[in-house]
Formats: sequence, structure tokens, C-alpha cells
Amino acid sequence: STTKATLPTTDHLLIFAHRGASGYAPENTMASYRLAYELGADYIEIDLQMTKDGHLVALHDDSLDRTTNGKGKVFLHTLEELKQLDAGSWFNEQFPSFAKLEYEGLTIPTLREIFEEFGHDMNYYIEMKNPQQYNNMEDTLILLLEEYGFLDDVSDGKVIISSFNERSLRILYAMEPSLPLTKLQSPYEVKKSTKNTFKKISKYAVAVGPSYKSINEEYIKNALDIGLQIHPYTVDDPFAIEQLEKWGVTGIFTNFIDVSNPDVYIM
Ligand code: G3P
Ligand code: CA
Repeated sequence: STTKATLPTTDHLLIFAHRGASGYAPENTMASYRLAYELGADYIEIDLQMTKDGHLVALHDDSLDRTTNGKGKVFLHTLEELKQLDAGSWFNEQFPSFAKLEYEGLTIPTLREIFEEFGHDMNYYIEMKNPQQYNNMEDTLILLLEEYGFLDDVSDGKVIISSFNERSLRILYAMEPSLPLTKLQSPYEVKKSTKNTFKKISKYAVAVGPSYKSINEEYIKNALDIGLQIHPYTVDDPFAIEQLEKWGVTGIFTNFIDVSNPDVYIM
């Protein structure tokens, strides 16, 4: 499809489950995504890295050290090697009050496995992490999206792709202009952002994803004026959520889905 990307309009603030329901379960694991699904998140956010043998996997860091019992850069390991690792036990140790036996021995999921699990019943907010470290990460992603039918009707907003890496987003835009893209922004980029910045971003993206603590009403107004949506990360404070919504934010990344949804309490 070659029509310019748009996002469907909604009647409520969109909830993007940051790394899944990662406040309650080990981030970027199937347990975390399943919980997000059960809690009614609008999207699951998935951080993508790529293995030595070219598989897209869900992991935030470009190294294994923090969230698995492995060591070293992801690109130095094959998928088979990654599948031996425990991606859940670190969470139990670090967050004893949320620890569960079933989290022990959870594996790093591939993006393919996530698509197999939820199919078109879920919406996906995928982040291209460290694409400069990997070969053809964009092509690999597009091929997988195609295989699972996510490029047939991109206007349904089932998949949004985000990155801090502008080059990677531009590559995706050139390949598939109708795929909705989000330019993530660090606090430093937020501070420098003017209407002109937003104009440039709007050439390829439909939204900006700023660090919420560094934005203000003016930032939001400027982005909205240019026609960009604003999806701040990572908002776990209900008062901040209320304020952002008043200012015109249409979706937020959160670790605690129930914080923004008073109908759901799991604690
Ligand atoms: O995608 C928004 C947010 O996830 C970016 O920060 O470090 O949590 O991936 P990070
Ligand atoms: Ca992310």
C-alpha cells in the first residue's frame, strides 16, 4: 500500500503496555504480554533486538546481562543459544513482592512467537532498538509483518513501529509508506524540538514518543499543530496521565496498565 499512514481515532486514551505488563511480570516475556492482554491494554509494546542468525527477539537491552542469566551482546548469539536462557528469574529477585514461581525459566520470545500467540487479536507497538547494530533489521521486520498479514490493511492501526533511530524509520517509510511510525525522543531531543522539528518528523511519522517528564503544554501544542499525535513514555502516575490527556495526548506507555484503568485492579 502506498497511501500515507494514519492512526484510527478512538474515544479513549490508548494504553500501550510498556514491555508488556512489566510492572507485574518480567518485561518483554510472554507472561508479561499475556497479562497485558488480560488487563485490556490497547497495545503491547515490544522492544526488538536481532540475533546473530537474523531472528527478531523481544529484549530491551542490546546485551543479555540485565534481564537474563546470559552475558554479552545479543548479536553475538544465535537464537538457539538465547533460548537456553532464563529471562524471568531476575524479576523475582529484584521485585520480590511481585515474584511468581512461574516466572522462573521464562524464555526470550521471538516476534514470530508473539504473533503466533496473539495473531490479530492484539495491537502491537514495536520498537526498533539499536537498528544500527544489525543487518537489515528493517527488511526482516517488514517480511515478518507481511507474512502475518499485518500489511494487508495498515489503516487499522494494528501495528505501529517506533524508534529513536530516524534513519531506521526513514528506511521503513520508504519501504511501506502506509505503516504508522513513531519518532521516539529523548529528553534532550524534546528540549530542542520546535515546530520545524515536528514538520521534519511528520514527513515520515504519524506520532512522536517523548519522555513524559520533559514535555509541557507548548511542546504538545506544537506537535498537534503539525498534525502529529503524542505518545509519551513511561507514565505510571495517574495524575500525570490526567494532565497529559487534558493537554491532548492520545496514548501513553505505562508499566502498570491498571493505574490508568480504574475498572481493573489486580493487586
Ligand atoms: O517506546 C517508548 C519507550 O519504550 C522508550 O524507552 O527505554 O523503555 O524503550 P525504553
Ligand atoms: Ca521501548
